[in-house]
Amino acid sequence: MTTLRYLTAGESHGRQLTAILEGCPAGLALDAAAIDADLVRRQLGYGRGARQQIEKDRVMILAGIRYGRTTGAPIALAIENRDAANWADTMAVEVTSRRVAPVCVPRPGHADLPGAQLYGADDLRDVIERASARETAARVACGAVARRLLGLLGCAVRSHVVAIGGVTAGVAASPAGLEAVDGDPLRCLDAAASEEMRSAIAAAGQEGDTLGGVFEVVAFGFPPGVGSYVQADRRLGARLAGALLGIPAIKGVEIGLGFAAAGLPGSRVHDEIVWSAATGYGRTANNAGGVEGGISTGLPIVVRAAMKPIATLMSPLRSVHLDSHEAVEAHVERSDVCAVPAAAVVGEAVVALCLAAAALERFGGETADEFAGAAAAFGDRLRRS
Ligand SMILES: Cc1cc2nc3c(=O)[nH]c(=O)nc-3n(C[C@H](O)[C@H](O)[C@H](O)COP(=O)(O)O)c2cc1C
Repeated sequence: MTTLRYLTAGESHGRQLTAILEGCPAGLALDAAAIDADLVRRQLGYGRGARQQIEKDRVMILAGIRYGRTTGAPIALAIENRDAANWADTMAVEVTSRRVAPVCVPRPGHADLPGAQLYGADDLRDVIERASARETAARVACGAVARRLLGLLGCAVRSHVVAIGGVTAGVAASPAGLEAVDGDPLRCLDAAASEEMRSAIAAAGQEGDTLGGVFEVVAFGFPPGVGSYVQADRRLGARLAGALLGIPAIKGVEIGLGFAAAGLPGSRVHDEIVWSAATGYGRTANNAGGVEGGISTGLPIVVRAAMKPIATLMSPLRSVHLDSHEAVEAHVERSDVCAVPAAAVVGEAVVALCLAAAALERFGGETADEFAGAAAAFGDRLRRS
């Protein structure tokens, strides 16, 4: 079975992030600019910390692409950490006499304490460096490749911010709106709500506090018939939820109407089925969010993710020193006040990777043409049914 899988490596202040993406068919047109465009989008958003001014993320393509096309070989990607130059002693690979003082006070809400317990770390720096969401830049790079693959099927994956700190946007997603949403500082479709969100972030920042929120990812043009109900791990909804919950700080996922469906009668939830000679089967709504029975319906895939507030507070919460067990304030380091717009771009990447993998499993193809051809042939079969 052809599938798409990836692994990443790299610390937040190490030399670079590295990703290997395996299973991409040969013959897909790809260059660094296509990947960089998404890396830049991940760095945007009002409420980010000073790190984003230091990093200017650009990908280095190290393997798997020749003369602008994938070869079928694993694709190796790297993103340099420009800030690493300032962290040489902290992140030295070799034993050094210039070792810096360990971090010994875990932040509530971060990976610090459970990570130290798991790996037996006496310096929380070992945990912080890999648990940091800096790693998501590598996922975004892989996601940009998946986005190209989905483009062969006529599928585009977009996102927008739906809520931040209790302020909710009142504008529904449309393809045109989502095309332009990067122009808004919070990647929000509702200009008035965006302004309120900015005020809320500014106020939280002044208090030394942080905010979370909700983003939505929409995949337009994803073909029907991908995923399955026959085993739990083949359900497309389960795979999408797993991909989104794999993003640091994501604590809830909804598909389509999601939690709201639980409070409504079936007559107001399920998308009625219609048929016409010209277009075949259709639906009167898309409350299912493009997935029924674990299978894509051909309508837009609509998923929402809830992000908790950032764990690093400039007015720190109570914690305990790892050595003395004394009650002290949690560790503080440079941090975002709110990263929901960036998390939405990461959401696009993991959704694109998930959908591309499921589509490759469904349609197969060692070359881009075989993959696109098999998907088109299935589309023809459905139109005739
Ligand atoms: C794009 C993005 C940026 C983030 N930036 C920060 C940050 O600056 N400071 C911080 O403490 N947590 C940040 N986080 C969240 C932490 O990475 C996350 O809370 C931590 O890894 C613990 O994992 P958990 O929240 O899933 O339990 C960010 C998350 C994302 C997706």
